[in-house]
Amino acid sequence: MTNIYKPTSQNITKAAHIIQQGGLVAMPTETVYGLGANVYNPQAVANIFAAKGRPSFNPLISHIAEIDFLKTYAQTDERVISLAQKYWPGPLTFVLRRFNHDTNAALDLACAGLRTVTVRMPNHPVALELIKKSGVPIVAPSANKSQTISPTTAQHVYDSLGENIDIILDGGACQVGVESTIIDITGKDIVLLRAGGISVEELEEFLNEKVLISNGNPNLPSSPGQMLKHYAPQHTLRINVEQPKPEEFFIGFGNTNGAHINLSPNGDVKEAAANLFAYMRYADSRQGFSGIAISPIPNTGLGMAINDRIRRAAYKK
Ligand code: TXA
Ligand code: MG
Repeated sequence: MTNIYKPTSQNITKAAHIIQQGGLVAMPTETVYGLGANVYNPQAVANIFAAKGRPSFNPLISHIAEIDFLKTYAQTDERVISLAQKYWPGPLTFVLRRFNHDTNAALDLACAGLRTVTVRMPNHPVALELIKKSGVPIVAPSANKSQTISPTTAQHVYDSLGENIDIILDGGACQVGVESTIIDITGKDIVLLRAGGISVEELEEFLNEKVLISNGNPNLPSSPGQMLKHYAPQHTLRINVEQPKPEEFFIGFGNTNGAHINLSPNGDVKEAAANLFAYMRYADSRQGFSGIAISPIPNTGLGMAINDRIRRAAYKK
């Protein structure tokens, strides 16, 4: 008996009741699986931090299902709305200013006490139906233990969090495979806080302006969760490897000789992103290897998100 459920209409209704009553539901999105709770229920939000072993200073993303709702939830302007109309539902997350009058205790917890609120609309029919049926925004971090590899299947969620969740809705493998792109849009300049499913090149072309990169610049806002150690596999991981050691498990990209597994034999970064976390898990589960090595990945398009994740996975304290 497991808590993995098929996403039938009946099961989604059941999951929505669980959300309303303060339980935890793992939901599929196009990026990775999320561990969802009712944003207005303080105990439920606290249970997310506890289940993941996540520090409470690390804020959560609110998932919504309608752009009109956004206008009542956070301070928006024309630029925000045009980005939402272009990219939602989809893997783009906004950090916005909260309304001054909004003093909700549960939301304070979800926002880690910040005066910003972080919002996205996921592009997955199961997530959208669940949010609509719940009637509240669903806060959801990736559904894995803090600092481990994010889940792209229902089984990954079960393996990481198991029975700490009331229901896991199984929506199949996530199509995008890396988390959403997060931009801080509270100031004049748009600042990238996390590379993800929408590339910076694409955003810059749509906006017709430069997106600033926050990494390492102390004068720019930063994402509390962008710690160097993240996505940690058990094995040692080396990146940008052309020539692996004989005893290493080798993850290739493009035309790679001697790879045990290849993220994308044709060198397509989108395909590589969709495979990344599942392949890292697979490599990490193999016995008899001294470590994992990964081929160089071009830093364009979704390659920027891939390089960000594998750099953190390779980080040694
Ligand atoms: O694709 C995704 O975004 C997935 C799916 C489930 O939607 N969610 C996800 O959530 O990746 P999580 O909690 O694993 O990562 C969210 C990141 C964290 O690093 C957090 O620190 C950052 O977003 N973040 C959230 N609110 C923020 C804020 N107000 N200011 C700066 N960073 C924020
Ligand atoms: Mg995460």
